Amino acid sequence: MDDFSGCAAVVTGGASGIGLATAQLLADRGARVACLDLRPDGLPSPLLGFAADVTDDATVRRAVAAVADTLGGLDIVINNAGIGAVGSVEANPDAEWHRVLDVNVVGIVRVTRAALPYLRRSAHAVVVNTCSIAATAGLPERALYSASKGAVQSLTLAMAADHVREGVRVVAVNPGTVDTPWVRRLLDATADPAAELAALRARQPTGRLVSSAEVAAAIAYLASPQAGATTGTVLAVDGGMHGLRMRPPTAT
Ligand code: NAI
Repeated sequence: MDDFSGCAAVVTGGASGIGLATAQLLADRGARVACLDLRPDGLPSPLLGFAADVTDDATVRRAVAAVADTLGGLDIVINNAGIGAVGSVEANPDAEWHRVLDVNVVGIVRVTRAALPYLRRSAHAVVVNTCSIAATAGLPERALYSASKGAVQSLTLAMAADHVREGVRVVAVNPGTVDTPWVRRLLDATADPAAELAALRARQPTGRLVSSAEVAAAIAYLASPQAGATTGTVLAVDGGMHGLRMRPPTAT
């Protein structure tokens, strides 16, 4: 399939996990793709790496301009860079709240702000934000992370309204727990990684983690020119976690 032929895309956090899977899928389907990440080393061909920290406005502006220059414009922005935070509302000091919100929320603001002048010149401009099930479901020990993703969901809708008449669509995906290097790091940090993995699997009605490829496919659908009538939409890719209420597996 080459439905992204002629499109130029930038994927933040494109060097790992969901971002890398998305960048590869868009490239496989014909897009010219740049990965903007802290250290975008060792990317598979034909992905192009651009080093930038989404918390640094000047660096972001330079990187987005360099991406647009290199790719000959910009049609698709995938705001995917993000970091986690564990604990209740009592767990983290102010500095950590500012750090996580700076990456997960203001990072999207910086990248989108820098990209909009290019997107306005595109025939099918779209911004896809990687949000989370944490935006819509109360999860234990995720106060800060959930606050950041709740803000991402609201920001998605507000940006969709602001830019719809300029021909720029803004959408989001809400993944459940995805089997990425991030989640593997979280598991490794627990006392019993096998038990923690079993608990994460059991939390999802499908009984398994979501794959990066499944989230990438959802992002690609939303980003594709065929989804031109879809904006302000948040697509759950969560193994049914948001909408379903299951009986325990042993019950009949
Ligand atoms: P990952 O840790 O495998 O990849 C994240 C990438 O973002 C890394 O390459 C990292 O270097 C980059 N990054 C982090 N901070 C950055 C910064 N300041 N500037 C530029 N790049 C930065 O993580 P994963 O799991 O692929 O997560 C990607 C997105 O998906 C995040 O926004 C996360 O919140 C979201 N998400 C992940 C879920 C999961 O279960 N893995 C579930 C729901 C949402």
